[in-house]
Amino acid sequence: MKKNRREIPYPARLNLARTPTPLEPLSRLSEELGVEVHLKRDDLTGAELTGNKVRKLEFLLAHALAKGSDTILTCGAAQSNHARATAIAAAKMGLNVRLLLRTRNPAKPPPLEGNILLDRLVGAEIIWLTFEEYGRRTEMLELEAESLRGSGKTPYIIPEGGSNALGAWGYIRAAEELAKDLEDLPGNNHKSTTIIHATGSGGTTAGLVLGVKLVGLDARVVGINVCNDRNYFMEVVYQICNTAIADYQLEIPFFRQEDIHIIDGYVGDGYGKASSQVLSLLVQIARTEGIILDPVYTGKAFYGMIQELRRNPRAFGDRILFMHTGGIFGLLPMVAQLESFL
Ligand SMILES: Cc1ncc(COP(=O)(O)O)c(C=O)c1O
Repeated sequence: MKKNRREIPYPARLNLARTPTPLEPLSRLSEELGVEVHLKRDDLTGAELTGNKVRKLEFLLAHALAKGSDTILTCGAAQSNHARATAIAAAKMGLNVRLLLRTRNPAKPPPLEGNILLDRLVGAEIIWLTFEEYGRRTEMLELEAESLRGSGKTPYIIPEGGSNALGAWGYIRAAEELAKDLEDLPGNNHKSTTIIHATGSGGTTAGLVLGVKLVGLDARVVGINVCNDRNYFMEVVYQICNTAIADYQLEIPFFRQEDIHIIDGYVGDGYGKASSQVLSLLVQIARTEGIILDPVYTGKAFYGMIQELRRNPRAFGDRILFMHTGGIFGLLPMVAQLESFL
């Protein structure tokens, strides 16, 4: 690991996340698997503002405020953690929020629970889209922005998951934190390290991939996709990285698509649908480690990590840093799915 880190040219940032988040060993699991597993507790970026999205929003909302915006527009699944984090962070900044969320039948929207309850509690306006409309989300966001401008507002669009070049800064900063975390670990030298996380819209992966390069951190970044497929995310992440490199003139020579690692095979029946294996692992980790994963992102990625390790215990080297990216409020409406495992 390089000790003399270069100055990183961070854009303007709000202070929304409780950082640095702790890095905690999962000692019982590490013993069982025969590989060191540590958890980066990004679920502790806050209580209500929990999870990875808060790190991205620090940069995105700073930009929105600098542009004089008064209304934030974003989109996501019905139980989107990103939408909830945006709604709460924006409320803190005195901004209005309009969320475009997808559901099977907008005439019968989902109940007021989990993230949706919090969205509404902080005053976010929700517009329900069909899946077909959501497929055209960029256009739908633009249309909403147009209509807001027509009524004298100044909207700011944040893309799905806060995943663009600016949002990626959140995880460039997290990589810098991880470098310090690793320096503080005992017996640090010469251990090959892999940073594993759930990939849902690509921004976290892009930020980490860029971050380890900028910081000079000797670690492999591996995303486990929880929706779409590997090819899709190889493209999305590559695009975000290249845009960030160009827009912020990042000193990353020869960035290649091969620098991005996505493991596919754990989406199961689709986004938001957790298998009984994932749910039972989630319960096991809760009971043996006191850690609450979520069924949509962290639980699926964690399950994927364990399956890969069962196949090859050395798959991720000597040491794993698993990013706990939050998601607890999305777990709460899943009583029916979880009950039989308790
Ligand atoms: C809890 C949680 N973990 C991981 C992710 C994936 O992060 P990203 O969208 O940056 O790929 C998300 C959002 O999509 C999330 O809500």
